[in-house]
Amino acid sequence: MENSHTLLAKTIHWTFSILYAYGIFKQVEDLEELEDASLLNFEIFFAIVFLVIVMLRFFYMKDAKTLLGAHDEMHKGHLFIAKVTHRLVYFSLIMLPTTGLLIAGILNAGVPGMEIAIALHELSAFLSYITIGIHVAASLYSRYKGEGVWNAMVPVWREDSKKNSKLISKLEDIENKIYDEIEDRFIN
Ligand code: HEM
Ligand code: HEM
Repeated sequence: MENSHTLLAKTIHWTFSILYAYGIFKQVEDLEELEDASLLNFEIFFAIVFLVIVMLRFFYMKDAKTLLGAHDEMHKGHLFIAKVTHRLVYFSLIMLPTTGLLIAGILNAGVPGMEIAIALHELSAFLSYITIGIHVAASLYSRYKGEGVWNAMVPVWREDSKKNSKLISKLEDIENKIYDEIEDRFIN
């Protein structure tokens, strides 16, 4: 029997992914757009809902096993990188609405600091693209190897069993060297 994340964990992961995509695609283009009070209010409402869901999700998933679906025991160095990446995803997802709310606060109060708030907001967006990009690429790579991690969270395009090939063994040799190095430096 395969290990899988709970139905609630999967539901939150995918509904939240849609919310994130919506937030990114409908983004405010520039500060002048926020002179429209209804847009400003909607942005504030959206940022608060987004922030509350991220926090609830973080606390719900905090104790879930990382790379839960893996058929084989995962290298400690591998688990460490996966955990750090998940934490960085959360960090960027908390910073995005928080710095958005900061922009709204500065706008309403008419105090200085707008340039810094916008720079932090853009930096948070950039960090989210990088960390989520790495996350999706790592999930696809794991699926290619058939490790079981994909099936534990993704309900479509199911993977079969663990694949073996010369290329995969070579890649795993390189991976293991990197994980050993990480274990030596950060875990022991
Ligand atoms: C095609 C897109 C995506 C795929 C294929 C994917 C795949 C996965 C998989 C397989 C896991 C389980 C990892 C484990 O068991 O440790 C996972 C967990 C996770 N994913 Fe994604 N993901 C995608 C999009 C996203 C997006 C857009 C976000 C953020 C908005 C995200 C954030 C996370 C986080 C934070 C976790 C850790 C578990 C949790 O706290 O919910 N993922 N994802
Ligand atoms: C979860 C909520 C939010 C998300 C996901 C989000 C996302 C984004 C993204 C991706 C950008 C483009 C950044 C870039 O150019 O790299 C952006 C820009 C911007 N956002 Fe947000 N945002 C959110 C909330 C807010 C809020 C609450 C405000 C203010 C009321 C706000 C004001 C702005 C402004 C003014 C810009 C344009 C910055 C510029 O001049 O380049 N955002 N937002």
